[in-house]
Amino acid sequence: MDRVIIFDTTLRDGEQAPGFSMNTAEKLEMARQLARLNVDVIEAGFPISSDEDFEATREVAKQVGTLEGAPIICGLSRVALRDIDRCWEAVKYAKHPRIHTFVATSDIHLKYKLRKTRDEVLKAAVDAVKHARGYCGDVEFSPEDASRSDFDYMCDVLEAVIGVGASTINIPDTVGYAIPKEWAERIGRIRERVKNIDKAVLSVHCHNDLGQAVANSLVAVMHGARQVECTINGIGERAGNASLEEIVMALRTRRDLFGIDTGVRSEEIFRTSRLLSHITGVHVQPNKAIVGENAFAHEAGIHQDGVLKEKLTYEIMRPQDIGRSSNKLVMGKHSGRHALAARLKELGFDLSGPDLDKAFKKFKDLADKKKEVYDEDLMTIVQGEMTQIPETYALEYLHVISGTGIIPSATVRLRKEAEVFQDSGVGDGPVDAALNAIDAITGLKGRLQDYQLRAITGGKDAIGEVSLKVDFDGMVVSGKGASTDVIEASARAYVNALNRAARPAPLKVKEAGP
Ligand code: KIV
Ligand code: ZN
Repeated sequence: MDRVIIFDTTLRDGEQAPGFSMNTAEKLEMARQLARLNVDVIEAGFPISSDEDFEATREVAKQVGTLEGAPIICGLSRVALRDIDRCWEAVKYAKHPRIHTFVATSDIHLKYKLRKTRDEVLKAAVDAVKHARGYCGDVEFSPEDASRSDFDYMCDVLEAVIGVGASTINIPDTVGYAIPKEWAERIGRIRERVKNIDKAVLSVHCHNDLGQAVANSLVAVMHGARQVECTINGIGERAGNASLEEIVMALRTRRDLFGIDTGVRSEEIFRTSRLLSHITGVHVQPNKAIVGENAFAHEAGIHQDGVLKEKLTYEIMRPQDIGRSSNKLVMGKHSGRHALAARLKELGFDLSGPDLDKAFKKFKDLADKKKEVYDEDLMTIVQGEMTQIPETYALEYLHVISGTGIIPSATVRLRKEAEVFQDSGVGDGPVDAALNAIDAITGLKGRLQDYQLRAITGGKDAIGEVSLKVDFDGMVVSGKGASTDVIEASARAYVNALNRAARPAPLKVKEAGP
């Protein structure tokens, strides 16, 4: 069947961008939702880069890659043979495993990064693909920095790796340098120049440094690419990767032009986007195509008038096509545990046992404070249950005095295992006072680098969600907290960051050569 294979790299290229790191439980939650979205390939991690990445990739392979109708689970590896061994160790549990190996082919990378000759790199690429094929029939190869590589040399490498069994050839615009017209030509010329190209699927992987990632991906499809690598919300290194939702909806909405579609269940797009924002604490801008808050909002009177008369006047897609319902009231204070579990499952959270008990208690507490409980509220309250950050510190008590004309002060009690610690602090506002009180207990002076507060839904009784970044003595960690009381949400986010700081830092090796 002629369709575009959607290769999702949210958990690998997306996750490796600063501020987007996810632990194993969070990656698993995302991977389950990506499977519901029906992507064809999930690139789950870069197993050699850290023990945490290895474990996350292996768990995605075991727990998502074995489901009925599971997607291909892919791991990234440099061309070093030990990288490939490690990658295979992680992905081998999946029903459909893939090894994705890469090496740079541009002279800039060869000279300054790899310090290798063209012949040495070609040989390393061929050896790597042969080695990977010894493990697995599904091997992808990428010539990194393809958009700045010498065309003939890169094609020689591609021909050689296809010759030893690479089944997907992925052409990355690693630095987001390409412009659609020349990118389209390059992809078209690869198909003419590489003699055995029909033995492999041609793929593209575009970064967004010049804002062209989606356009470059789409013109590549027009010129014969049949796999597109992309991420949810377009997250990724620097300016990000091509956005999955934009590619999928462009192909679907303009099928008249492209004549080809994907297998993605578009009704899962909005939920997937929101789940990622909840997990990472990074929200998309309101005007983001497809999934932004305003993407379907018609403000101008003339537009509203047109839409009321006939939606087609200003709407090229329907909100329901991406699974977007208006903030739906889902539960009330009389809703039971089973109803909560069922709704959470629909939202992508598969909770049971003690996790469900905790979520149910939080839901009941919230339903007592807040008349209406929406999907977004539910996602916020369960998020903490999913992350499984060991709770070195737990917030037990917070008392804040603040107002006009007084110095804000706070008293905080934290539990650390069986011990309880209490201290107080003052500050230039109640949040500052509460965080200073926490610092007084831990003896660590955190420097707040970023602080964002957002109401999860409308209404004065909305939950406030705080996402922050703190520098604890050179280690920058993010934290999240939510409550109907925004000072408490801030203290919870800060304690969450403290608990993350207590975890060992992952070692990332992306920059090293083969
Ligand atoms: O951007 C890039 O070149 C990559 C490769 C590893 C495919 O992410
Ligand atoms: Zn990339």
